[in-house]
Amino acid sequence: MINAETELYCIFGRPVGHSKSPVIHNASFQSLGINAVYLAFETDDIKKGMDAVRSLNIRGASVTIPFKEDVMAYLDEIDPEAEQIGAVNTIHHTNGRLTGYNTDSKAAINPLNPDDIAGKQVCVIGAGGAAHAVAYGIAKQGGNLLIVNRSEEKGRGLASKYNAGFIAQDRLVRMDRLDADIIINTTSVGMAPDSDLSPLAGRLLNPEMIVMDVVYTPLNTRLLADARATGCRTVDGLSMFIHQGAAQFKIWTGKDPDLEIMRNALLNEDRYNEDR
Ligand code: ATR
Repeated sequence: MINAETELYCIFGRPVGHSKSPVIHNASFQSLGINAVYLAFETDDIKKGMDAVRSLNIRGASVTIPFKEDVMAYLDEIDPEAEQIGAVNTIHHTNGRLTGYNTDSKAAINPLNPDDIAGKQVCVIGAGGAAHAVAYGIAKQGGNLLIVNRSEEKGRGLASKYNAGFIAQDRLVRMDRLDADIIINTTSVGMAPDSDLSPLAGRLLNPEMIVMDVVYTPLNTRLLADARATGCRTVDGLSMFIHQGAAQFKIWTGKDPDLEIMRNALLNEDRYNEDR
């Protein structure tokens, strides 16, 4: 029940109309009996957003495109992981102070057994914000990174930060073998309506690979369908999204949410089915 003690959490972004974060966080507050509500706020000005967090005593916030970097200027403290990644997606408001975190790297690490990443060859497709967080997480666990990206300059930039190899996407198209244990797509390639596209040719997959995709509309992307047909273990975009959200929830409440409740809340949402 919403009453005078209900605590407020929210997401800031532009646009945020299609964000799935309210669904997973509200389902988790409800299932754990926490008197809190999570709303989506679209804004043009992230500084004003942070002023609102302070003045309205909003307990925690998610931050999404295009504010993950800009918001850092308006916080009191930044967690070293977020500092290293160069972006914040989570804010915790405690004792009048705002601390920024980045849980996007957990999206790639937590669905795997983190101990299995050390010494593995991990191919990250993309070199944007999501790729950066994923690369950070993989490097921290001792994985060997290979960055694949369309633009060479951006791809080499990310690769050099993590001592990683780099292959331009147009060269990968002509290759007939990819030396990787884990493949993680962080680009939007394959997202509806272009769901027949894959960032990687199916012939480069082999059954020992684990294949992950950040895209979750559709849930069964062309990349994951090719991977399953090859016999690979797969991790879909909802799992990756839920893991970054679960890490946010833990920062805010100290509690581990039930991942199945989060997933079912998303799958049961009419909107999700409309978006696919
Ligand atoms: P995000 O924060 O979601 O990672 P981003 O910072 O805009 O978003 O990065 C998007 C990444 O997806 C980039 O690496 C981009 O490649 P470029 O560096 O060449 O721009 C990649 N990407 C997006 N659309 C793509 C497409 N159609 N084909 C190949 N790569 C694409």
